[in-house]
Amino acid sequence: MTEAAAPLTRTTEWQALADHQQTMKAVHMRDLFDRDPQRFERYFAEAAGLSLDYSKNLITDDTLSHLMALARRCGLPAKIEAMFRGDPINNSENRPALHTALRNLSAEAIEVDGRDIMPEVRSTLARMEEFVWRVRSTQWRGFTNKPFTDVVSIGIGGSFLGPKLVSASLKPYWHGRLNCHYVANIDGSHITEVLRHINPETTLFLIQSKSFRTQETLENTRVAREWFLHNGGSEERIGKHFVAVTANTPEAVRFGIAEENIFPMWDWVGGRYSLWSAIGLPTALTIGMDNFRALLSGAHAMDKHFRTAPLEQNLPVLMALLGVWYGNFWGADAHAILPYDHYLRGLPAHLQQLDMESNGKCVTRDGTPVDYETGPIIWGGAGANGQHAYHQLLHQGTRLSPADFIIPLHTHNPVADHHAILFANCLSQTQALMRGKTEAEAVRELEAEGLDQAAIKQLAPHKVIPGNKPSNTLLFERATPRTVGALIALYEHKTYAQGVIWDVDSFDQWGVELGKQLGKDILTRLLDSNSAEVSTDSSTDGLIQLFRNHHLNGF
Ligand code: F6P
Repeated sequence: MTEAAAPLTRTTEWQALADHQQTMKAVHMRDLFDRDPQRFERYFAEAAGLSLDYSKNLITDDTLSHLMALARRCGLPAKIEAMFRGDPINNSENRPALHTALRNLSAEAIEVDGRDIMPEVRSTLARMEEFVWRVRSTQWRGFTNKPFTDVVSIGIGGSFLGPKLVSASLKPYWHGRLNCHYVANIDGSHITEVLRHINPETTLFLIQSKSFRTQETLENTRVAREWFLHNGGSEERIGKHFVAVTANTPEAVRFGIAEENIFPMWDWVGGRYSLWSAIGLPTALTIGMDNFRALLSGAHAMDKHFRTAPLEQNLPVLMALLGVWYGNFWGADAHAILPYDHYLRGLPAHLQQLDMESNGKCVTRDGTPVDYETGPIIWGGAGANGQHAYHQLLHQGTRLSPADFIIPLHTHNPVADHHAILFANCLSQTQALMRGKTEAEAVRELEAEGLDQAAIKQLAPHKVIPGNKPSNTLLFERATPRTVGALIALYEHKTYAQGVIWDVDSFDQWGVELGKQLGKDILTRLLDSNSAEVSTDSSTDGLIQLFRNHHLNGF
């Protein structure tokens, strides 16, 4: 086998990293900081309004050059270009992944099957602009001629998490009159709770589904439609209150949405990358089109950076390679996303779908099973709340979960010293993770508290904190449309760069299909006790029977 065609784990670059990790096991980050006062400057990079301090990682210059060598070995620069160019990098579905076209503010043409898609992207943005203006300026009103006060977005997965994150992140930019609600779950409580608080006369429903085949979205839309019809609406009035975004116009029309109320989406946008398309309409309605365009411009700035910056200064590439370093050479199964910003608290949920649906794969692009770990478990939540909940495991647990601490330098809501306190909390966490507390330090503290030697001996092991736990700190001036756009795009590109290293298709999601297929039969068996008795496995059969017993008299 030639070296060029060697499986990833047998390349010299991979082996060099494995050997290097053996050396690094003996190194503590405390010592690296003590030895090099320039470490912060050395491992600090900026792009598109975001700053990344990656000095609190288990790295040296050698580590980085080994990681860069691996990236080059995997052809990362060419594969970045292939994505932007519109090559069919989603090879299991033979499609490009062109979310970058949705925020392409340059004059560059982007072709799919020999046709420039940019005119369509621009005309959809212009349609969005007009629609957003009509709703916000009260030109488009409800059936009793009242202006809209509420927008209800019905969609799930990528047709929910991204727009919801952006809406919540940019709450300070919301229109004074328009409230935005999201309904995703098929759990009836979700839509019930939303419908309870809105008025059909002043509510606009946005039905968001790329495929227009998603069970949760279609069932919730039926409920919304019935509710509208039974509360003063009528078939003729539906056109004023129901708008859809989909790549499947015929299905939306069949469902009863007027064709002129349908905004397009395209096959070349993955669901989890679609918040930049008309799927972003709930966001655009609440923050306005100027702010929506600023969001796109932030993402576009990050795109330009990802495409042109040298790997060594490329934020998404650096973050991707650090993830590979920990996941493949240090045994980390998880990665934490810790936004220290109330408005960004939905970021972990969006990044869970983005990263786990993209890189949760076990075969390479040509279908060969991998013999290395791929995408990590993404988890997290808002700081400082997490410090009083799960950070204990980060500090003293046996599992390694590198973490991204994300914090703005300014808050939208200056309250007393809150922001300085929040910032101090964030920094103290990354410092504690890095430094830890040695046994000698623990003993000294206990002695200072006046404990006797027996008590010190007993308590000291519990007080020792190993440290040497890696983290990134991501900073930006304020959570503005531009910085939020750049931040989300940063993680999109990090995800792709990792997919390139692992040679997986980051743009398909076949794994979610099996549950959908099995769900159909199970639903038939739950609803119809006379359905042909097919036995599957004793657990599923038993649980179906249990459900039926509880619903003998109907639902
Ligand atoms: O079930 C997973 C999924 O296919 C996601 O990839 C997607 O974002 C979500 O469902 C919703 O799909 P749609 O926009 O087609 O309703």
